[in-house]
Amino acid sequence: MTPAGSDILLFGTPGLAVEALTLPIGRRLAFLAENNSVTDRVFELNRATGSPLSIAFCSGGLPRESADAVLLDPPWYLDFVRPMLTAAAHACRPGGVVLISLPPDGTRPSAEADRQAAVAFGRRLGLDPIEHCALAIGYETPFFERNALAAAGIYPPPHWRRGDLLAFRKTRAPTRHHLAASAQRRDWIEVGIGRMRPSSETRPGEAGLMSLIDGDVLPTVSRRDPSRRLAQVWTSGNRIFRTNNPQVVLEAAISCAGETMGSGVQPHLWGTMQEREQLERIADELRALAALEAQEERGAPKAALERSVTWRSSSTHCWNRSTATISG
Ligand SMILES: C[S@@+](CC[C@H](N)C(=O)[O-])C[C@H]1O[C@@H](n2cnc3c(N)ncnc32)[C@H](O)[C@@H]1O
Repeated sequence: MTPAGSDILLFGTPGLAVEALTLPIGRRLAFLAENNSVTDRVFELNRATGSPLSIAFCSGGLPRESADAVLLDPPWYLDFVRPMLTAAAHACRPGGVVLISLPPDGTRPSAEADRQAAVAFGRRLGLDPIEHCALAIGYETPFFERNALAAAGIYPPPHWRRGDLLAFRKTRAPTRHHLAASAQRRDWIEVGIGRMRPSSETRPGEAGLMSLIDGDVLPTVSRRDPSRRLAQVWTSGNRIFRTNNPQVVLEAAISCAGETMGSGVQPHLWGTMQEREQLERIADELRALAALEAQEERGAPKAALERSVTWRSSSTHCWNRSTATISG
């Protein structure tokens, strides 16, 4: 859809950016990213392959009419889709194309209406829809989603999740000049322990990691699931916990992360014996969780192979309330 030598902007697509590093496509590539640990990894891989990508953070300002094609894959909620589509429309040159992945029918009850809302919003941005390819995009199931599905007793093949591809051509200048504010987010702090990322919400209180649900893995990645609101600690394997003292969990996580980087807890912060013991106990729990999730991430969940055949044969019959909230 673009001539040789043109500019392609990848927006919110770290996986695609990594694929693009080694593709001989004869286009200039830019990646517009969030500042997070995934982007850090893209930076490393980019350097290792001679920096074919130019990488920028959204916080550093958004590009204007600099790309002939913009590819974006926002989280599938309108409060992310709208601001990211707005930024994409502004970044696209007149006559260029914007390609977006949106939730297919069945992802959640409002999927079709949400897609239509995104198309209507696109028109207001000067983007005319030119193609809709249902289920055209395949996704590798990420670890957190694989764990969530396993907790719900579902063991799909690795590329089970599909997205609809919508293509727009920019025919007019956007009529909306102000970029809509980004989605409201809770204030999470992310800490890496090995490969595990427990995120903790900061609020003062008392002690420890407490279970919220049986088995701790939230069996859904749906935003509509009410137990999400109770979670104060969230791991990269989709485990959620409550805590009366997020600050001590955070300090314990930082201490575990520091161990792998050659530094430990700063003892002056943890004056009393009781506080030190509490910190050590939570750090032990976090280390055990990190080891468990490293093991889970390396291999498919134990029951995956034997159950995948059953899953496939019964997939059209299992559309009940619990599977309906697995995603979306
Ligand atoms: C559903 S994931 C899509 C991942 C994609 N399939 C890939 O190639 O890796 C959504 C992505 O949007 C990114 N994102 C969310 N809000 C963003 C924003 N305001 N600016 C840039 N990226 C954003 C997230 O960091 C995440 O990588």
